[in-house]
Amino acid sequence: MKIAEHLLFGGDYNPEQWMDQPGILEEDIRLMKKAGVNVVSLGIFAWAEEEPEEGRYELDWLEEIIGHLYKNGIFTILATPSGARPRWLAEKYPEVLRVNADRSRQLYGWRENHCMTSPVYREKVRQIDMKLAERFGKNPAVILWHISNEFGGDCHCPLCQDAFRRYIKKKYKTVDTLNHAWWAKFWSHTYQSFDQVESPSPIGEGSSQGLALDWKRYTSDQEIDFMKAEIRALRDGGAAQPVTTNMMHNFDGINYGQMARELDVISWDSYPEWYGEDLFLEMEKHSFCHDYMRSLKDQSFLLMESCPTGTNWQDYSKLKEPGLLTCEGMNALAHGADSVLYFQIRQGRGSYEKFHGALIDHTGRDDTRVFREASKVGQALKFLQEIVGSDTVSKAALFYDIENRWALDLSAGPRNAGHGYLDLLEDFYHAFRRAGLNVDVIDETHDLSSYKVVAAPMLYMFRDGVETRLKKFVIDGGTLILTFWSGIVDESDLIFMGDKPHELTEAAGLRFEEIDTFQDYRKNCMVPAPENNHSGSGSSLTEDDPSLRFCLEETRCGKYCELDHLESASSLMVYGKDFYRGKSALSVNHFGKGTVYYLGTWPERAWLKNMVAEILRKASLQGPVRLLPDKVSVCERQTPDASFLILQNFGQAREEVRLSDPESCPGSGPVRIYTSGARGMQPDFSAQPFAAAEPITLEPMSTTIVRIPRS
Ligand code: GLA
Ligand code: ZN
Repeated sequence: MKIAEHLLFGGDYNPEQWMDQPGILEEDIRLMKKAGVNVVSLGIFAWAEEEPEEGRYELDWLEEIIGHLYKNGIFTILATPSGARPRWLAEKYPEVLRVNADRSRQLYGWRENHCMTSPVYREKVRQIDMKLAERFGKNPAVILWHISNEFGGDCHCPLCQDAFRRYIKKKYKTVDTLNHAWWAKFWSHTYQSFDQVESPSPIGEGSSQGLALDWKRYTSDQEIDFMKAEIRALRDGGAAQPVTTNMMHNFDGINYGQMARELDVISWDSYPEWYGEDLFLEMEKHSFCHDYMRSLKDQSFLLMESCPTGTNWQDYSKLKEPGLLTCEGMNALAHGADSVLYFQIRQGRGSYEKFHGALIDHTGRDDTRVFREASKVGQALKFLQEIVGSDTVSKAALFYDIENRWALDLSAGPRNAGHGYLDLLEDFYHAFRRAGLNVDVIDETHDLSSYKVVAAPMLYMFRDGVETRLKKFVIDGGTLILTFWSGIVDESDLIFMGDKPHELTEAAGLRFEEIDTFQDYRKNCMVPAPENNHSGSGSSLTEDDPSLRFCLEETRCGKYCELDHLESASSLMVYGKDFYRGKSALSVNHFGKGTVYYLGTWPERAWLKNMVAEILRKASLQGPVRLLPDKVSVCERQTPDASFLILQNFGQAREEVRLSDPESCPGSGPVRIYTSGARGMQPDFSAQPFAAAEPITLEPMSTTIVRIPRS
C-alpha cells in the first residue's frame, strides 16, 4: 500500500516550542527543503497549545503552519495529542492519572501515563480529536493521522479494576470456568465471585500466572480500545486520511498483531544502540523488528522515528560514523519501509530532550556533519522513489509470538535465570538472514500457506489452533523447525495433559519427556548420532542425504537440554555429556509431504546457522546472491516492473558478491544503482548499467541497490 507517491523523509517537528521566535518557521522550512524533507509529524505533544483551557480550542496557529509547510512542498502527519495531557486536565480530573501496581496514584508529570479507562479522559480526548478532524480531516496537506504516541503501560485504578472484571466476566462467563482457567484451587485462591478479581500486585496476587496473563491481554486490549476510540473520533469528525500509531522495538506491552488490524499503516520507532561492539549485529536486531513490522500487515511500513545522531536517553550518546546514518535509513528501506523519519527536526532548548540529536541542532546551521549526511539520505530517497509501496516476498518465516513471550515471562520455571526467548529468535533470525533470504516474522495467528520453511523456536504456548495450522503446513510439504519447550501449555497457561508438543507428536515423530536447564557457563555438546555416522555396512542418514552433512560436526550446546522419546523420527545428533549422553538432541521426521526438524537444545550460533542453511538448501530456498560475506546483508523488494536487491556492507573492508542466478536476469541487464563508500562521503546515489554476471563491489559502510527489470 502506498501512503504517498514518494518515499517520505522528515520527522517530528515541534514548532509550538518556538512560537516566541518569529522567523524560526521560515528558517526551518528553508533548512528542511535543503535537506529534502517532504513530511513532518506535528502536534504529537501540543495539547496544551491546542486547548489551553478546558473547551477553548486554538487551532489557527496549527492550520497556518500546516498550510505554510504545504506551500513549500512539505506534507503533514498530524498527531492526536493524547500522549501527554495538559496540566489543567489532570488537576481538574485526577482520575486520568494512572495508578501503579502497588495501588499508589501517580502525580502529574512525564507523558504516556494516562488511565486508558477513565471516561473523562476518553471524552476529553474525543473532543480534541474531533476538533482536529473537523479542521484538518479534508486538508490535502495532511496525509496521515498519528494516533497518540507509543501506547503502552498499565493502570490499576478502580476504574481499570472494574473494566478488568467486566473483561474477565465476558471471557469466562461463570466463576467455575474462571477458577478452572486460573487453576485457582492452588493455594486455596478459589474465587466465589467476579467481584473478587483484582489485578496482579506486588502487595497482593503474584502467584496466579493465568491471572497475570489475562491482565496482560486486558491491558493490551484496553490500549487498543482506547486507540480505536480515537480513530472513531477522527472519523466522526470527518477525517478521511489513513491512520497509524508509532510502535516500539521489541515492546512487550501490547499485542501488536491485534493492534495492526485497526490501523491502515504500520509505523515504528527504531533507535539502535550504536555503541556496541558489532554494528552489523546491532543493525540485525533492528532488521528483525523491521521484518516483524512489515509482516504485521504484510505490507510496507513507515520508519516513524530514528535519530540523526546520538540520542540523549541511551547509556552513551555515541556519534554515528560517516555513512552509518545512510546505512541505517537504507536498512529500513531494504526491509520494507517507505520512509526515513527522524526524531527530531529541530533540537529543543530545554527539558528532557535538549540533548537529543536532531536534523537542525542548537547552532541552527546547515553545514554541520549531521545535517549534511541526513541530507544525503533525503537525496537518496528521492533517487529511489520507484521503490515506494513495493512488496517483500518471503518464502521463509520465523515465529515471534507476543502472547508466547508473556507466558514464558510469567511462568516460574524451568529457567528463571532467563528463558532467552528473544535471544533464541535472534539466533534463528541471524541464520535465515545469513542465507540471504527475506524473512517474515509472524505470530501464531498468521497464515502459513505462502512459506516453504518455517521456524517456531520455543513455542511454549499454543494458541488459536496453531498446532492445526502447523500440522497442515507440514502435510502440504512445508519444512518446520521446532525446538525444545514447545506445545507445553494452552492459552490459559494450563499444561496440555498427555503427550507434547501438543498435537504435533506425530508430525515431529517424538514426544517430550523431561527438560534440563542449567547455568550459561555449563555446556553440554551435541555429537553425530551413531546410527547416522557409522562406518559399518549399510548407508547412514547423512550418506543418503548429503544435505544433512552439518550433522557430522560436533557443537557445544547449553541452557536447555530436552530429553525426548523418539518414535518415527530419526536422530541426527545426540547429547555428548551428562546422564543423558547418547539421547537424541536433534531429529528429523518426514510427515505428509513435509519434514519436521526438532532441536532439543540450544547450539552455538554458528552451528545453528549451518543447520538452517542446509535445511533451506534442502527445501530449495536460495538467496539472490552467492556466498554472502559476513558483514553484508541482502534484501529484496519488488514492484510490478522490477526487483530491487538492496545490498549493505556494514563492515570495515571492501567486499564482492555475485548474483546467484545471473541467467535469470533479462537480456537488457539490470541497472545498478550505487552509493559510494561512506568514508570520504563521496557522490550520492547514481545509476549505471551492469551486467548480471559481473561481481558487485561493496564499499565499506555503503548500500548498493541492484535493479533487475522484470521481463
Ligand atoms: C520516543 C518518542 C519521541 C521521543 C523519542 C526520543 O520514540 O516517541 O517522542 O521522545 O523517543 O528518542
Ligand atoms: Zn485506570
